Amino acid sequence: MEYRRLGKTRRMVGAIGFGAWAIGGDWGTVDDASSLRALHAAADAGVTLFDTADVYGDGRSERLIGQFLRERSGESLFVATKMGRRVPLDLAQYSPEAFRGWVDRSRDNLGVDRLDLVQLHCLPTAVYYRPEIFGALDDLVSAGAIASYGVSVERVEEGLKAIEFPGVASVQIIYNIVRQRPAERFLAEAARRDVGVLARVPLASGLLTGKLTRETVFDGSDHRRFNRHGEAFDVGETFAGVDYETGLALVDELRALVPASATLAQMTLRWILMSDAVTAAIPGAKTPEQARANAAAADLAPLPAEAMERIARLYAERVKPLVHQRW
Ligand SMILES: NC(=O)c1ccc[n+]([C@@H]2O[C@H](COP(=O)([O-])OP(=O)(O)OC[C@H]3O[C@@H](n4cnc5c(N)ncnc54)[C@H](OP(=O)(O)O)[C@@H]3O)[C@@H](O)[C@H]2O)c1
Repeated sequence: MEYRRLGKTRRMVGAIGFGAWAIGGDWGTVDDASSLRALHAAADAGVTLFDTADVYGDGRSERLIGQFLRERSGESLFVATKMGRRVPLDLAQYSPEAFRGWVDRSRDNLGVDRLDLVQLHCLPTAVYYRPEIFGALDDLVSAGAIASYGVSVERVEEGLKAIEFPGVASVQIIYNIVRQRPAERFLAEAARRDVGVLARVPLASGLLTGKLTRETVFDGSDHRRFNRHGEAFDVGETFAGVDYETGLALVDELRALVPASATLAQMTLRWILMSDAVTAAIPGAKTPEQARANAAAADLAPLPAEAMERIARLYAERVKPLVHQRW
């Protein structure tokens, strides 16, 4: 595992993290015993960063991670959680009292005195024009309830605005082969301000693993079925907003670029880590096998220049016109 510093948190974390949305819910049926095995397999493979949220299974994901932390006490693990989506997306909801209540609930769920990192969870853009909201987060740091805070954003512009606040330690944003706009300006700006970057949805919800086909049927409780067109939340969170047919056609082209002894999923994750401004990619995994395979991507050799150029061209020709200006 390669370790990188997560911006102003000053903590070193594995460059491949573990996305814990799926073990909470929204991705079909999951069983907690298997989820715990996946968490342990990740840690055994050198993963130290675990990304969760208070809404994933309404606390189920956090509680599982809490149990996992107790089972691995003494290890230097880092848990990033999120808050702000257990209530309607309305500025009036984001008061200091509400923040304290949500932080306390996450501390309980995780079984920790202080949260390593709490991220505002894709809140409305107007939040980034309200310094008092960031002041309330500073107060939580001063009170010792959280070690640091960051934001998870939908759009590049939200990330650029958020990092103007000096207390913002990290930004979580979708960045992958089919979502390349953050590389134009955002990543360099985050690096310049020493802000950590967590690349979420790195596998485009599994599309970039190459295992999905036109025939794949998703469970009714899986967002890849119920949110295909943004019915429940931002469509960009499902397949990174790329329509399924376009995604499958692109994947067919990418297969030829996969290095010997690697998988398409691993190449995809390694592509993300080619940027030094990215601290970690946080693929979601539900099984020990997936967790181990993802962690191993950090050890792949850098991708050759020809592969990087080909991927840039494929994005420019096939994907950019469809998604680039939307997020
Ligand atoms: N708003 C936000 O802040 C936000 C939104 C989205 C995600 N996130 C965070 O980002 C994390 C990652 O994003 P994501 O989970 O949405 O999507 P993702 O990482 O792009 O894709 C995850 C899916 O890919 C498949 N997969 C993972 N590893 C695999 C492997 N080695 N081989 C084959 N298939 C594999 C699994 O699908 P199967 O179920 O088919 O096995 C898994 O559920 C989340 O868990 C969450 O922590 C945050």
